[in-house]
Amino acid sequence: MALLLKDCHVIDPQVGLNETADILVRDGKIVEIGQNLTMEKGVERDLSGKIVVPGLVDMHVHLREPGYEQKEDIASGTRAAAHGGFTAVCCMPNTKPIIDNAVGVEYVAARAAAVGKCRVHVAGSCSQGLKGETLSEMGDMVAHGAVAFTDDGRGVQDAGMMRRVMDYASQFDRVVMSHCQDEGLVGEGQVNEGVVSTRLGMLGWPAEGEEIQIARDIALCRLTGCPLHVQHLSTARGLELVRAAKAEGLPVTCEVTPHHLFLTEDDIDDAYNTFMKVNPPLRTAEDCNALIDGVVDGTIDAIVTDHAPHTHYDKDCEFELAPFGMIGLETALALIVTNLVNPGHLTWERAIELMSANPRAILRVERVALEAGSTADFTVIDPEATWTVDASEFLSKAVNSGFIGTELTGRATDVYVGGYATLEDGKIVE
Ligand code: DOR
Repeated sequence: MALLLKDCHVIDPQVGLNETADILVRDGKIVEIGQNLTMEKGVERDLSGKIVVPGLVDMHVHLREPGYEQKEDIASGTRAAAHGGFTAVCCMPNTKPIIDNAVGVEYVAARAAAVGKCRVHVAGSCSQGLKGETLSEMGDMVAHGAVAFTDDGRGVQDAGMMRRVMDYASQFDRVVMSHCQDEGLVGEGQVNEGVVSTRLGMLGWPAEGEEIQIARDIALCRLTGCPLHVQHLSTARGLELVRAAKAEGLPVTCEVTPHHLFLTEDDIDDAYNTFMKVNPPLRTAEDCNALIDGVVDGTIDAIVTDHAPHTHYDKDCEFELAPFGMIGLETALALIVTNLVNPGHLTWERAIELMSANPRAILRVERVALEAGSTADFTVIDPEATWTVDASEFLSKAVNSGFIGTELTGRATDVYVGGYATLEDGKIVE
């Protein structure tokens, strides 16, 4: 099948492209990018005024299947991903059962192939049952396609255990993605420990509960040589630790979510909105500003959503009883465009590195670029589209976003995976 995208503003820092051009695709691969391209037979789209970038990848997503299909499943989660402009996601293993063996990896891959609207890369757990005690079947999971390891949702508490995880993972050239949380320090903490936790009368989740494990895991990266990826960084000092590790030349990368960039602990007011309850918690404005600096200066490698869908009845309860998590797939791109790209803090090139090129490199999955021969995964963006986040428009099963009602600019209009449209003019292609 041939596809010709006409008059697109193509941007890809991997190949130094930022110009208006046509893209010709055949059999899922880019054939040519250039001026005045034509084809004999196929689908032609006029994309003037639109930006086309290598397909976006969200390397931190909870699809909840198997086991929690009331919150989300692979069909609904990947529809939400396509609606948000993503051509691929990496899903976390805290499902029921936990993805700690090859059967789980195979199940998710098979469901994604059958019903998915984007590519789904599977992260296996580090420990059996996320208990932090016994290694999961890491080698077998790699053999069946797992791209990375993480106990996301929980920190691995024992340093010796984390060392074994990293020693073992390094044999397979797979990254260990670390959810940094010291349970002894965090306990039942609900919100960032400080003035706001005191005012709201809730137990605090101190910054140190995250930073101590970041420091530990960087030390273990140095000891084992295993690539380390710090998940959902939320504190300024945590960022400093990563910056120093990078300066030392260690194989350390890190990610941040839009909610940790653009929401602060002050957004949890006396409405006690449980949608604002996330793990790690929303931190201070100083933390947000430091993280934004890290996004701009290159210390932060990836923007991820930590898309964490929960049902209405999960979240419709006292703050202390609600589960942690916020959805993000359908708002992430526009939040970055509105808050960072449009005001001139972040170039499109850097946004593409953060949301497309770097996640693929960290996950060691096939590079996708706007060049002949590459797989035809594209995200088409209308940079001028203005819209208001409306819960009724989400394709996720869940609505637990902290951004409902926010006015945003920029939106994915079309998404192509292997040359086939999964989203066309803002609508899922069935
Ligand atoms: O807020 C969060 N929710 N953070 C996590 O690390 C896990 C996630 C979930 O699974 O709901």
